[in-house]
Amino acid sequence: MGNFEQFIGSFSFDGRLVEVDIICSIAHVRMLVKTKIINALEGKKIIAGLESILKDLKKGWKIPKEEDIHFAVEKELIRRIGLIGGKMHTARSRNDQVATDLRLYIKYAIKTIDKLLNNFQKILVKKASDNIDVVMPGFTHLQPAQPILAAHHILAYAQMMQRDKERLEDCYKRVDVLPLGSAALAGTSFKIDRQYSAKLLGFRSVSENSLDGVSDRDFAIEFVFCMSVISLHLTRFCEEIILWMNPEFNYITIDDKFTSGSSIMPQKRNPDCAEVIRGKSGRIFGDLIALLTIVKSLPLAYNRDLQEDKIPVFDAFDNVKMCLKVMNEMIETLKFIKENTLKSTEKGFIAATEIADYLAIQNVPFRTAHGIVKDIVLYCKKYSKTLNGLSIEEFNKFSQLFKKDIFKYLDAKNIADMKVSYGSTSKKSIIRQIGNIKRKLT
Ligand code: ARG
Repeated sequence: MGNFEQFIGSFSFDGRLVEVDIICSIAHVRMLVKTKIINALEGKKIIAGLESILKDLKKGWKIPKEEDIHFAVEKELIRRIGLIGGKMHTARSRNDQVATDLRLYIKYAIKTIDKLLNNFQKILVKKASDNIDVVMPGFTHLQPAQPILAAHHILAYAQMMQRDKERLEDCYKRVDVLPLGSAALAGTSFKIDRQYSAKLLGFRSVSENSLDGVSDRDFAIEFVFCMSVISLHLTRFCEEIILWMNPEFNYITIDDKFTSGSSIMPQKRNPDCAEVIRGKSGRIFGDLIALLTIVKSLPLAYNRDLQEDKIPVFDAFDNVKMCLKVMNEMIETLKFIKENTLKSTEKGFIAATEIADYLAIQNVPFRTAHGIVKDIVLYCKKYSKTLNGLSIEEFNKFSQLFKKDIFKYLDAKNIADMKVSYGSTSKKSIIRQIGNIKRKLT
């Protein structure tokens, strides 16, 4: 094969479609036999030939290079069974063939990612259950805001993974449409049975318009978008792992095998795995932009530009799969340093909102209460005190409404548990969240 042929071809990157390509051809041939477009004996020979190729591939044999994987399979078939192998391509084109192959592959990819997400949720739920008594500061603007349970934080990610699963499930519906039988662009004069092909290949429906059938790549774009959002969620979690491992926080440890030392600074443990997962988002988002750009402005129907679609699809799939596998293992080893997260709740006056609520319950307009507590915080800062280091006399300088029970409102664990609204951070709410998410796991 010359350089030019190699340049316009896709053999260097579509090889992984070989299995789905053969499966697609076997179904097509069975349909051709059923509709009497080819006779049963011919069909049998072709299918036996295709199956022998599959068998050899499974043993590690490599198919000889051609312009693309579809030509490679066809040429190999003809090599094995003679010119009759060429009948396989009756009533179809590589255009509807490649669109079908890619859909079959993405269906498999969705199932693979779905399993990993589900497993990740199980790990998160277990982590949340095991750490139900760990209190930590919750942040807004990355500033200490209000105390929360670490389990609440962990379960927020389980919710993201739930949406990721649902997004994939929805995407699957649009992947699950068979374009085979659209032929090159106009359909075919042969009396084929597309419903039968769909049944054999496990597609829910067949495409309605042959032009759209061969040129649509929305399903691939949606899939890579789904990969991008998963990657995005992972970057947020990884960012927090990196922060929490920083000695300034010192909230967690993860197994050493997910970190590395520095070649020059002996004291360091770098959170490399989390950083790499965070960094992979660059190429995964890039895959989405690449795919959008490939399809942008293409006139109907098939254009060779579309051949490039496979590179971003495979890249996004491979990298998200890898990231999820590493993330699953890494989070399994995550341990909270309970004393440190608790100690951290004493910084940053995170009981302030609670004190304002304490006054508001006693009919002080919330805005006024907010002002009073702001003054208390300023007083604490001036005299280097913490809120629960104040005496009742000091509180009363700011308002006579403070009684001894105010101290109950200064304890981080109590504060978290006082949150009664649905979806809040209290232990009761966490137990409910765990129950609800568990029901959605497979
Ligand atoms: N290798 C091509 C692709 O991946 C297959 C379809 C080629 N069709 C064509 N008319 N040249 O898209």
